[in-house]
Amino acid sequence: MNWHYPRVIAHRCGGALTPENTLAGLGLSARLGFRAVEFDVMLSADGIPLLIHDETLERTTNGAGSVAELSWGALSKLDAGIKHHRAFTGEILPTLQQTLDACRSLGLAANIEIKPASGHEVETGTVVARQVLAYTRDWPEVSLLFSSFSEAALAAALQEAPELPRALVTRVVPLDWRSRLQRLECLALHCSARYLQPDQAAEIAAAGYPLVCYTVNLPEDAARLFAIGVSAIFTDRLDLFDPRL
Ligand code: G3P
Ligand code: MG
Repeated sequence: MNWHYPRVIAHRCGGALTPENTLAGLGLSARLGFRAVEFDVMLSADGIPLLIHDETLERTTNGAGSVAELSWGALSKLDAGIKHHRAFTGEILPTLQQTLDACRSLGLAANIEIKPASGHEVETGTVVARQVLAYTRDWPEVSLLFSSFSEAALAAALQEAPELPRALVTRVVPLDWRSRLQRLECLALHCSARYLQPDQAAEIAAAGYPLVCYTVNLPEDAARLFAIGVSAIFTDRLDLFDPRL
């Protein structure tokens, strides 16, 4: 179980130049030379995994209400581009399946952040892991990593697809980070850059675990993080970073 971390990963498929969590973002990430993307996956009411960050539709789409209460049939009619800029009118909410196909054809590695709606943690971890495991059996060349803030979702992914790599996402580095990673058989910790202390980064690096920070939108902040032992960063600002760092 392993995953190669490039130094810079496109966060939410790159959320500054293109609408977040969309196929437009994937396309631009690849055209700019990024090697890996991160995106958020939630379930529709009828159990279809799709890319969206918020539990509600208002911020990023022309819809309203809760993702978990709408069928894929309803969600598939929404526009996920127009709120970013009218130039992206017609951009869809992608399914996980469409996204994996796009990553494969574009040669992008993918960090699939399992983002369950509240109360759907185990179901989301199970459904996403099952679908991704089936996908990797057909397309073993696609490089995929699960992550989640939800330990219940990660435990479900571990049970469903133990051979696929996992990372735990936290805001603050917890004191018991090592035992949490061990319990969920995670290969890395993803944490907020905002709260990270240099001694925490040093401790994690010394233990041999990749430490990956979100969301880093200034190259000087990335340089400071790399200097204290951070392995990689997630950024929205594909225009400000050298993708081959
Ligand atoms: O997976 C890293 C990062 O995306 C976690 O925060 O809220 O942007 O999904 P968020
Ligand atoms: Mg995310």
